[in-house]
Amino acid sequence: MAKDIQVKDGAKLSKRMYKNRVALSDDVKKQVVDEMSKTLAASFDVYSQAKFAHWNVKGLNFYQLHLVFDTVAKTVFKQVDPIAERITQLGGVANGTVRQAAATSEIPAYNVEALNGPEHLTALADSLGKYCGLMREVSEKIDDLGDKPSADFFNQLIVDAEEELYFLESHMEAGNVQ
Ligand SMILES: [Fe+2]
Repeated sequence: MAKDIQVKDGAKLSKRMYKNRVALSDDVKKQVVDEMSKTLAASFDVYSQAKFAHWNVKGLNFYQLHLVFDTVAKTVFKQVDPIAERITQLGGVANGTVRQAAATSEIPAYNVEALNGPEHLTALADSLGKYCGLMREVSEKIDDLGDKPSADFFNQLIVDAEEELYFLESHMEAGNVQ
């Protein structure tokens, strides 16, 4: 097996880096790509979890939540492609197959026992909150590494994902003040 191929939980991951003219050192590019790869796996995972909620929620508020969960799925899905292509712009390989995402995602597994609206809202808000937190961590690390454009790129994704988190939490947290 080529030395730039790693195997995790049965999924093969290419760690190959391509040379390019982006004005960062090869070492920084590799570290930034490794950081961004965490969010690529997470984005695919959270997208599929939002679809699970969209398909399987039951109860009196079914239709509203069915739509809300699909909006979350659409917003997160729209982030998958730009994240993957930011990785390739820096010379990395976008390890974004479903198998790769399943093997490497840091997002907790979805609560597949969830049945009604509150249970799905909690399960999805937990995962989406982790995703938002992971993107904040990655943005800060990338900023510290000196790649401010990539950090800015993530900052916009964070704003969009946290808006979806707000929509989910607004269904759950009525009257819950600090
Ligand atoms: Fe649908």
